[in-house]
Amino acid sequence: MVTKIKRANSSKPMSRNSFVFLARFSSGSRCSTSTLVWSLVVVLLMLHLYTLISHTDVQSKEIHRDMSHRILLRELEEVEEENIQMPPPRKRSPRAAKRKPRRPTTLIDEFLDESSQIRHVFFPTIKTAVDPMVDAGNDSFYYYPGRIWLDTEGNPIQAHGGGILYDEKSRTYYWYGEYKDGPTYHAHKKGAARVDVIGVGCYSSKDLWTWKNEGIVLAAEERNETHDLHKSNVLERPKVIYNDRTGKYVMWMHIDDANYTKASIGVAISDSPTGPFDYLYSKRPHGFESRDMTIFKDDDGVAYLVYSSEDNTELHIGPLDENYLDVTHVARRILVGQHREAPALFKHEGTYYMITSGCTGWAPNEALAHAAESIMGPWETMGNPCIGGNKVFRLTTFFAQSTFVLPLPGLPGLFIFMADRWNPADLRDSRYVWLPLTAGGAADQPLDYSFGFPLWSRVSIYWHKRWRLPGEWSGMKMKL
Ligand code: GAL
Repeated sequence: MVTKIKRANSSKPMSRNSFVFLARFSSGSRCSTSTLVWSLVVVLLMLHLYTLISHTDVQSKEIHRDMSHRILLRELEEVEEENIQMPPPRKRSPRAAKRKPRRPTTLIDEFLDESSQIRHVFFPTIKTAVDPMVDAGNDSFYYYPGRIWLDTEGNPIQAHGGGILYDEKSRTYYWYGEYKDGPTYHAHKKGAARVDVIGVGCYSSKDLWTWKNEGIVLAAEERNETHDLHKSNVLERPKVIYNDRTGKYVMWMHIDDANYTKASIGVAISDSPTGPFDYLYSKRPHGFESRDMTIFKDDDGVAYLVYSSEDNTELHIGPLDENYLDVTHVARRILVGQHREAPALFKHEGTYYMITSGCTGWAPNEALAHAAESIMGPWETMGNPCIGGNKVFRLTTFFAQSTFVLPLPGLPGLFIFMADRWNPADLRDSRYVWLPLTAGGAADQPLDYSFGFPLWSRVSIYWHKRWRLPGEWSGMKMKL
């Protein structure tokens, strides 16, 4: 400001002087016209220079910000390798070795072995927890996939199999998920490990890194054994969307019994994102079994339910009614015979994408990316989107399972891939694996419906031990 005023003042006398000088000169010289023209040119040049200087500040700031965005984006796409040292084989008595020869131990065996010597690699101890409330200094806004993540009260976040809603009204992100802070046990000898239903946990955040516990927004039923939400049942993968017509927050979830034979969806509603949610009912959508599921709200306000069905051999997709309280009569079978679950949908440049997992219970397996021009299909399978780590990391979705893909306003093509690293020995200690997902560039596999020409963008999920979002997202000043 000061510089500007100074320049503006000094330009006045200078221009008057130059005109006097020009006038004198013009009376006695033949060069007068050309001198006049040159002087005008000089004055114009000076004016131009002045405008340039005053704009340079703003421009350089913009360029700087753009550059740091790009540098950080490039950083996110860097391939990070993981070198995990397998532990030496344990000593066994010669008799034990004769009885049962040891099979070669793989990284997956080590992951599933509760007493593995390298368990800390997959489930780092509380000492390394991410705690946004302590002055993290250089570590602020960094995600550490697999580490314990503390909320603003210092407790590990309990939002497994979750999803995130951005609430326009409060300009706040809400993370909903399974609140599993109870003992893990087996209801049946061969059944999956389980935790009694406690409810749906909800956490709020403005920056996607600091999460405040908003409590259990849909609680289990303690006494009534016939209730869907009785603690002995199963409540998984809750997702919430906002209905602009009714002004209600609507939650959809997987409702089951301990044996996973009920295979239904459940619906609950609330006037507020932080609940309490009123549980409405459960049903088999379109009359079919429904296990792992998600809901997706499209740009035109139409929402869709996607669920694993027919013994998890295929997925079904169909629009919800306009209140989001039920499915309609329209549904399609997709990815038939592919045995996929844990669907997570997102949209990029008008195309629909989905990440799914295979069906191996709490054990990790290979993720696949799928794409479709129309959300109702046909859906094509593009291949494994995981990049980096090592081969086992890529074949196990970084020892995790998809649950949600979050778009980031202002960063087209960049998403957060949210996954669960399940700990079947102690489900409450399951970890969150959040990684950057990018959509862009040509897919590298020719696809069924595109006659050999890749129609879709490549979807990539990059492994990072430590990473953060670019630009304003990684600074203290959030522009939401
Ligand atoms: C997985 C599923 C989880 C949970 C688990 C139980 O296949 O994705 O949500 O249901 O099985 O074993």
